[in-house]
Amino acid sequence: MATTKKRARDREPELDPDVPAGMSVAMLQDLHLLTRDGQLNADARRKLKQIRHLVGLLRPALDDAFARAPADAAPGSEPPSVNEPLVVDCGAGKSYLGALIYELVLAPARRGSLLAIEARPELAEQAAARAARFGQERFRVATGAIAAAELPARPRVVTALHACDTATDDALALAIGANADHVAVVPCCQAEVARQLEAAGAEDEALATLHAHPLHRRELGSHLTNVVRALALQAHGYKVTVTELVGWEHSAKNELILGRRVNRFDAAARAKLRALLDRFHIEPAIVRELAARGLDPRAAPSA
Ligand SMILES: C[S@@+](CC[C@H](N)C(=O)[O-])C[C@H]1O[C@@H](n2cnc3c(N)ncnc32)[C@H](O)[C@@H]1O
Repeated sequence: MATTKKRARDREPELDPDVPAGMSVAMLQDLHLLTRDGQLNADARRKLKQIRHLVGLLRPALDDAFARAPADAAPGSEPPSVNEPLVVDCGAGKSYLGALIYELVLAPARRGSLLAIEARPELAEQAAARAARFGQERFRVATGAIAAAELPARPRVVTALHACDTATDDALALAIGANADHVAVVPCCQAEVARQLEAAGAEDEALATLHAHPLHRRELGSHLTNVVRALALQAHGYKVTVTELVGWEHSAKNELILGRRVNRFDAAARAKLRALLDRFHIEPAIVRELAARGLDPRAAPSA
């Protein structure tokens, strides 16, 4: 009996079951996702749940990226570079997502590198310092705007979790422009298209009714933005899946747009995109950004 009591007293604090297996507890504490006694507060639980789900949903893309990388290696360079595949996390913030992708996927595989792009220098510095402290040698940080980022290689996977407003479009344009194999974005709030709807007015009474109230205009604007994002990916040959990241009780910003490149372009998606933009008189950021890069998703593809 005495032994049992002693054993119970001496036991390490039990880890919360939401802590992913294989994840460094010290790193989760450093990220302030875990308290000193191994527990999660409500915010941290919500964040960790989103990120774990996203890492899980990214697994097939990451596995595919690992499988493709050796085949693309230059002759004579086998085994492929440990930096392959390149994963890019846009609008990384505190780099929770990058830290978990590295720890749970790239570190056990002993290959693959992660580039976190973050505009705020203090967050970028913290992420770089943490990666160095935890020996994440293939974790790099680019400080600055996504649109201005220079990639060290063709990215296999580009992701963006809650990249603010049109930063999601910057991430998509970066992925499409760099010919990424896989894209996964969970958009944040988006206000631009609601303003475009308001400015466009409406010739069509039924459509005008859809966004007569500001709240409906915001929701319709946000929905149209994501529909256009998905069509822009399809227009460039990505097979797109739109799904929920986690249950709606965990986050209102919950739409996950996944893309896997399977073709060079999709003419039917381009025609649908033109029709949608014409009908609502809108031109969202993703369309303008791709057009500026010579990759207009509305354009009929040249042979
Ligand atoms: C809402 S936070 C999300 C951070 C992180 N992805 C997460 O889910 O915890 C969005 C981050 O994107 C960064 N950001 C916004 N626009 C950006 C841009 N155009 N280029 C680079 N970073 C940007 C912000 O500084 C901020 O840290």
